[in-house]
Amino acid sequence: MLSDGAFHSGAELAKHLNISRTAVWKHIRKLEQTGLHVFAVPGKGYCLAQPLELLAAEPVLAHMDTAARNLLSHLEILISVDSTNNHLLNQARAGCASGYACVAEEQTAGRGRRGRNWVSPFACNLYISLLWRFANGISYLSGLSLAVGVAITKVLKETGLEAIGLKWPNDILWQGRKLAGILVDVTGEVSGPCAAIVGVGINVNMAAAHPVAIDQSWTDIETILGHRISRNMLLGRVLQELLITMKVYEQEGLKPFIGLWTKWDAIAGKKVTLSSSNNITVGVARGIDVSGALILENNKGDLIFFHHGEVSMRLH
Ligand code: BTN
Repeated sequence: MLSDGAFHSGAELAKHLNISRTAVWKHIRKLEQTGLHVFAVPGKGYCLAQPLELLAAEPVLAHMDTAARNLLSHLEILISVDSTNNHLLNQARAGCASGYACVAEEQTAGRGRRGRNWVSPFACNLYISLLWRFANGISYLSGLSLAVGVAITKVLKETGLEAIGLKWPNDILWQGRKLAGILVDVTGEVSGPCAAIVGVGINVNMAAAHPVAIDQSWTDIETILGHRISRNMLLGRVLQELLITMKVYEQEGLKPFIGLWTKWDAIAGKKVTLSSSNNITVGVARGIDVSGALILENNKGDLIFFHHGEVSMRLH
């Protein structure tokens, strides 16, 4: 009720929700704990500092074409969840079909790559997971996160964020700052039926709402564009592109995506340091090979290939 940004009296909210005014007040306190600013003005009631666009199936589906909608088996919109990827891993194990998408307004234990936390405040950003089943085994999925990086970059560019690029394996950066991240979880057999949970986090309106503590340089769409965009519109476009990407990857693997990945490679020609648990390698990034491995040229001119996993990269 408050999402329209107008004042609603305690009595009105209490009547509509069939609860006491004290209970309304307690719910308002809870809302504030999520980071939302709620004004309480005697004689007028409660009002959000600014209107809030909550995620809803109808406007999301309105931004998808029939081909993509046909690939979507289910769209689940949650208010709060530990991690949309965890939720879909459970759904995958319970037998859910390809094309099952889950999004949440908030994640209480959002996961990033390499065991990191993904800061996921309420109703500011997009936290999306999509389940897709593959017949040909987990090893076939090694390039999937790069293909997803291409899909997300494409949508963000079409949304007006021209100056974004990809940092291997799948960070989406704007002027060196992280705008979106991708985490692919897999479950199933090494060379038989398996499922991928493609998780995507996009910073949409993060800065205005929260002084968030993130251990790397980041930005959000609102800061870059200077205005708000509809999260439902963006979610529809992202799901559209992700679903088509899954279908293409299922049939053709990484190959059709390499051209765009290379075009949008933000680190090609730059000096980088790659660290794994027992090794540090410095070199110049020379793009990716057909399998999605990063090619690094060391100071002797040798080309070294890195398959992503637990490798972290630092730009000089
Ligand atoms: C990274 O860059 O470290 C990857 C971040 C991935 C975050 C998304 S948000 C939706 C999905 N659920 C999670 O717990 N993580 C991914």
